[in-house]
Amino acid sequence: MFSETRLAISDLIYPIFVDSRITSREPVPSMPGIYRLSLADVPDEIEEVMSLQIPGILVFGLPERKDPIGSEAYSERGIVQRTVEEIRKVAPDFVVATDVCLCQYTDHGHCGVLHGSTVDNDETLKLLAEIAVSHAKAGADLVCPSGMMDGQVKAIRAALDDNLFQDTAIMSYSAKYASSFYGPFREAAESAPFWGLGDRRGYQMNLANRREAMREIEEDITEGADIVMVKPALSYLDVIRDARIQFREPIAAYSTSGEYAMIKAAGAANWLNEKAIALEILTAIKRAGADLTITYFAKEVAKWLQERPDADQAHKT
Ligand code: PBG
Ligand code: ZN
Repeated sequence: MFSETRLAISDLIYPIFVDSRITSREPVPSMPGIYRLSLADVPDEIEEVMSLQIPGILVFGLPERKDPIGSEAYSERGIVQRTVEEIRKVAPDFVVATDVCLCQYTDHGHCGVLHGSTVDNDETLKLLAEIAVSHAKAGADLVCPSGMMDGQVKAIRAALDDNLFQDTAIMSYSAKYASSFYGPFREAAESAPFWGLGDRRGYQMNLANRREAMREIEEDITEGADIVMVKPALSYLDVIRDARIQFREPIAAYSTSGEYAMIKAAGAANWLNEKAIALEILTAIKRAGADLTITYFAKEVAKWLQERPDADQAHKT
């Protein structure tokens, strides 16, 4: 009766990795329970996620080949495009969000095209717009630019509208920090910047900054973002809180691969109670102000909450 915050399955979005080079699922070593899927695995995976009442997924792709301009990211036969088409055959109403970025598709691993050793922001915008339109064409409901290029929401909104996808929404990674919590993801998605070609600090945010995050979010809202995101989540609850107070738009939090890996590792060693910790952290993210949380725990949490839907079990386990 007195709980101010109740974690619900409907708060969760489950990320999936689809790899165009494999024929059956392969485990991601640093993320126990998470797999790279083949295209053929997708329908069963979606069926499972839907049967758990999880309202949506976020799709990441691993292409056949990488090149300097990430061509497969905006190809009609690209892996994300084909995945969305497959999902649409079995689940016309399920919410499908897609990651819009170049880093999985470029041979240098940066989130944009390079001029010399720096990312060319404005050149990249055209490609991001193409990616977003190709995802919308395939049937995506939400396109999610994650590259932190300046003006990416505006460019994508304009391109979607020009192509008559007014109803395709944008969930923008608005306050995405240059964080070490992305390590396991980069292993899963093979998207680390190539050795010797620097890091992402030129476009992702300085983790010491909070006011700057509000400016980034405000810009994205002005440019047309429908949902704004803070990423990572656990170490950035203050940023989620500030955003909740300052803006009325829906806020998503991305509980990253590193957060998942830490809990899984400590749980496997029996140093922490994995279930209790996961529920505590996800409840805290919601308490801070997130409306939605993208989490690799989504399927497990859905099972736990179905067993006991009041979610007050964290301290009881
Ligand atoms: C790339 C991207 C990253 C994540 C989502 N999209 C990693 C990065 O910026 O290097 C991280 C997700 C996670 O760690 O779970 N644009
Ligand atoms: Zn990227």
